[in-house]
Formats: sequence, structure tokens, C-alpha cells
Amino acid sequence: MSSQLVYLNGEYLPLDQAKVSVLDRGFIFGDGVYEVIPAYGSKALRFEHHMQRLQNSLDAVRISNPLTNDQWLEIINKLIAATDSQDQYIYLHVTRGVASRDHQFPEDTHPTVFVMSNVLNPVDSKLLEKGISAVTLDDIRWQHCNIKAIALLPNILLRQQAVENNAKEAILIRDGHMTEGAASNVFIVKDGVIKTPPKDNKLLPGITRDLVVELAHSHKIPVEETTITEDEFLDADEIWLTSSTKEILPVTRINTQEVGNGKPGVVWKDMFQKYQDYKQSLRG
Ligand code: PDD
Repeated sequence: MSSQLVYLNGEYLPLDQAKVSVLDRGFIFGDGVYEVIPAYGSKALRFEHHMQRLQNSLDAVRISNPLTNDQWLEIINKLIAATDSQDQYIYLHVTRGVASRDHQFPEDTHPTVFVMSNVLNPVDSKLLEKGISAVTLDDIRWQHCNIKAIALLPNILLRQQAVENNAKEAILIRDGHMTEGAASNVFIVKDGVIKTPPKDNKLLPGITRDLVVELAHSHKIPVEETTITEDEFLDADEIWLTSSTKEILPVTRINTQEVGNGKPGVVWKDMFQKYQDYKQSLRG
């Protein structure tokens, strides 16, 4: 693990030699943004979409993008080639850089860039057979959840609370509406129609989410991007979570009740297969 090759500020080096200053604003303030990109058959999934979201996050926090898309791709491909697995996930991270501690933006500071790639293990087949448990919790986060910020303390506290309640994910409720999970987007199915909340400042515009919506459209499966009340959510026939590392996970238990008949639903099974086919097409 320590000999794993990573990229830090222009250099490729073993993980245990990659060091940043304790004055890095990422360390001091959580002042930075990140991306997680899955790769199948050594090819990054939806690279351009991830780069566009990175650019949007950087613009929102006013850090200038230190690299071009070609430079990002070169780094990513080099790290993928150095990791012994067909399926990987790339973590990349940009902070405002190193400066003496002061809340306002420093002048003349270069962003810190860190990139690593790890083996992406297949999702545990038991979770796919049985589904997972989730709990609903109050969405205690800020007003800019569309930014993929490295400051994740609320998400961490929410996920931990879910785990301490024997659940795998916290599904968040804000002003009576379901927003997303602590580290995932959320879909429901009701009477054969797939629904997920629209993209706005209350949730991260997930790349997996968008792919699922696109797959539904292209296969003529009814799908709506629409607000979902807490009551509607709790009354769903199916609930799914989506993320780059967990793909599409069925939720079969919410709080103390079963979702539908307590088993992964038929619409999920169909979409899960379509997602696998899409991945397979990348592997070529
Ligand atoms: N998280 N919403 C939140 C709050 C997330 O943290 C994530 C993913 C998603 C799903 O986005 P995507 O489909 O682009 O992965 C939604 C990543 C995987 C993480 O923090 O590790």
C-alpha cells in the first residue's frame, strides 16, 4: 500500500513519501474540492462529466483550475497504469494551497493537487441480493451541497449516526423533502415510475445519478426528476442509492419498515443490469 504511486504537485511518488504542509488550507480549513472517478477496463468513466463538475466546484469556491483536462487525463491514465487492477477509482483533490492561517483568501498561493488510484472491488453480492438498510436523518448540511467540497464533517456525522443505528446510509430530509444520502444520490420507484430529486443546491449532481437517468430515458423507462416529500419517500415501492463506488444499491429497509416486499425490486434489477452492460461496453 505504501509503495502505491500517487501524484502530488507535479511529482509521481510512493504514497508514504507524499507529504503536504500542515499549513495547507485543506488541512487547516477544509478549503478545497475533490472528485471520485471510477475506471473500468482501465478507462475513466465519464471523464468529461467529472471534469465539468470539478470545474463547477472550483469556480464556486474561486480556486483556478491548476491543470487542463488533457493534463488531468494524463495523470489519471498514468496512475491507472501503475495500479494492478482493471477496475479502479481515482480520487483527486485540489486545495487553495499553503498559506499562513487567515480566513480570507491568501494572495499568490498555488493550489495543492493530489491524485491517487485505488482498486475498485465489486460491490458485495450479499448487499445486491438482500439490499441494505438506511435511516432518514435531518439534513444538517449547508446551502451549497452541489459543490463537491472536501469539508465533509456533516456527511461524516450523518453516516456515523446511520452506522450506529445498524444502517449503511443516512438518507437526508430537508424541509419535508428527501435530498440525497450522506455520500450517495437517492432514487425511488412508485407505480413503475423512477423518481429522483432535481439538481439544485441541495444535492450533489452525481455522475452515476445522471447516467441512470440517461439509461432510463434511452430505454424508455418512465423517469421523473421531481421533488419527493418525506411521506412519498417512505411510501416508495423501491429505493435505490447511487454513487461512483457503490453503483446502484437497493435499499430494502428504511428506519423500522420494509421497502416494498423487503427485497430488491424488479425495476432496480433491470436498471442494475443496464448499468453493468454500460460498464462492459467501456471495458470493450
Ligand atoms: N461520493 N452525493 C454525495 C453527498 C456524495 O458524496 C456522492 C459521492 C454522491 C454520488 O455522486 P457520484 O455518482 O458522482 O459518485 C452524491 C463519493 C463517491 C465519495 O465521497 O467518496
